[in-house]
Amino acid sequence: MTSKPVLLDRVRPVAEQPLVRPGVDRASIGALVRKFYSRVRKDERLGPIFVREITGDWEPHLEKMTDFWSSVILKTGDYHGRPVPAHLKLRDVTEADFEIWLALFRETAAELFAPETAAVFVERAERIAASLKLAMFFRLGPAASSGAE
Ligand code: HEM
Repeated sequence: MTSKPVLLDRVRPVAEQPLVRPGVDRASIGALVRKFYSRVRKDERLGPIFVREITGDWEPHLEKMTDFWSSVILKTGDYHGRPVPAHLKLRDVTEADFEIWLALFRETAAELFAPETAAVFVERAERIAASLKLAMFFRLGPAASSGAE
């Protein structure tokens, strides 16, 4: 018999740790971001949305997204933006658009990283996409928000 408090270990939330794997650093994350957005810009549905929103120099957006992914994956704390308001203003974006976004992201991550590493990027992208979709598309109805019928 073991006296290890297995149950307690399981219920205690575990803080996300930086992903430490060979070849996963700001440079490779930057390469992922650049390849992903060059694909997004060519996509017939997503391309026009990004081209309309990001006018002029793409470099600041690409650097911001590299900060974002470095914070998500390496826990660098480089990103200080607010993703929800940036997406709430995109009134014509639909839930189906997120599927396109995620498909392009999965494809790019699989090309640049080992499968176990790509899976971590994809799992985090899916989780963030789900919370952005909640913020953008789901509203409590009047009955639910007032607590009365
Ligand atoms: C169909 C899906 C999506 C579309 C059309 C979209 C579009 C955009 C656009 C146009 C911007 C630039 C906004 C601006 O600079 O004013 C932006 C910013 C951003 N997006 Fe998305 N996005 C999508 C999904 C996602 C997902 C799934 C993630 C994360 C996994 C994400 C993360 C971000 C972040 C971090 C920013 C920067 C926000 C800031 O700090 O200004 N986006 N997105």
